Amino acid sequence: MAADRDGARGRARSGPALPAAALPAGRHPLSSGYLAPQDQPHRLVSQALARASRRPAALGRVDPTGVPELRTWFATQADAQPDDVLVCAGTQAALATIFTSLCRPGDAVAMESPTYVGALAAAHAAGLRVVPVHRGADGAPDPHDLDRALQSSGARVLYAQPHGANPTGTSWPARTHQELVAVARRHGCFVVEDDWAHDFVLAGTPRPLAADDPGGTVLHLRSLTKSTVPALRVAAVVGRGPVMARLAAGRTAADLYVSGVLQHAALDVVTGPGWRRHVRTARARLVDRRDALAAAVVAHLGADALTHVPVQGLHLWVRLPDGTDDTALAARADAAGVEVSAGSPWWVSEPGGPHLRVSYAAAEPAQAARGIEVLAALLREAPTGW
Ligand SMILES: Cc1ncc(COP(=O)(O)O)c(C=O)c1O
Repeated sequence: MAADRDGARGRARSGPALPAAALPAGRHPLSSGYLAPQDQPHRLVSQALARASRRPAALGRVDPTGVPELRTWFATQADAQPDDVLVCAGTQAALATIFTSLCRPGDAVAMESPTYVGALAAAHAAGLRVVPVHRGADGAPDPHDLDRALQSSGARVLYAQPHGANPTGTSWPARTHQELVAVARRHGCFVVEDDWAHDFVLAGTPRPLAADDPGGTVLHLRSLTKSTVPALRVAAVVGRGPVMARLAAGRTAADLYVSGVLQHAALDVVTGPGWRRHVRTARARLVDRRDALAAAVVAHLGADALTHVPVQGLHLWVRLPDGTDDTALAARADAAGVEVSAGSPWWVSEPGGPHLRVSYAAAEPAQAARGIEVLAALLREAPTGW
């Protein structure tokens, strides 16, 4: 314990001195995008991998669009047909395929701002211009703003997170879905619906945009990496129409196919008897963790710091006092053992005020409370101009 405290004090030497009471006893994982290791279904996955590795079909070359039984599973999840499904090595690979297959370097892609840094990175790697679309107070873009952004930029792809967005934690109200998809459709623009937090619904029953899209405007992304283990890099694009052939050609050119062992193991996990129980347990734990973290933020940073409590996902978007340098604060917090993400990199253009993304995915309630206490102490001692 003493060594931990001294270590934390040593690492924080370049920042403001922390009051002894606020020194952390260890690392505080408030930036994780994955469940805590003890909450991940390690046993289900390792047994499934062992079984998959004994199947000759899994060890061979597989259909480039995906193992048929897994495509069928993804299709039934999204009210689609197996032919509408393309299996990818995670959402990140799916984004790279979509951006390189549907756009050319220099083209515009529209994104809500702030948005997932990995989507920004994939767009930049494809040479695209990212055009911000403002999110309204209700968590969804205003249809007129979207219309203007698509009109002026000519973007043919909108990347969106309508359900439990990373980093803001917000969701689009159901009443906005059809109108926003209709705006995109009018501009011949695909809506990439990143449903990354599908298994982390903490209240309500969100309806995917793709469920009401017979016309094929929406490309629905469903990943299993978050709710299984990070190593099981299996996801799917679910869409309708000729676009799927273009995506399949792009994905095949990039990496031929996703390992059959991973696909068979993923199918085994999600169709096995332990899956529903795992998802239920993970959700209940996330609710406790979210509530503990939100309460600590309000208690130590003030009610203004938290304008939204997510009903889906893993992250709180915490507003900092005007003038705070969120990057410097996150670095100082890290030196003090508290891992949080600075808000600045998540904005598409100018940041709309300083923020931190603070995650409840992996921190026990006591760790979360302690971590926020440390953050509050750092903020109180912040020199002017942070
Ligand atoms: C919003 C969002 N989309 C996609 C991903 C990447 O998911 P995958 O592991 O399936 O590539 C993440 C991971 O953090 C994410 O937060």
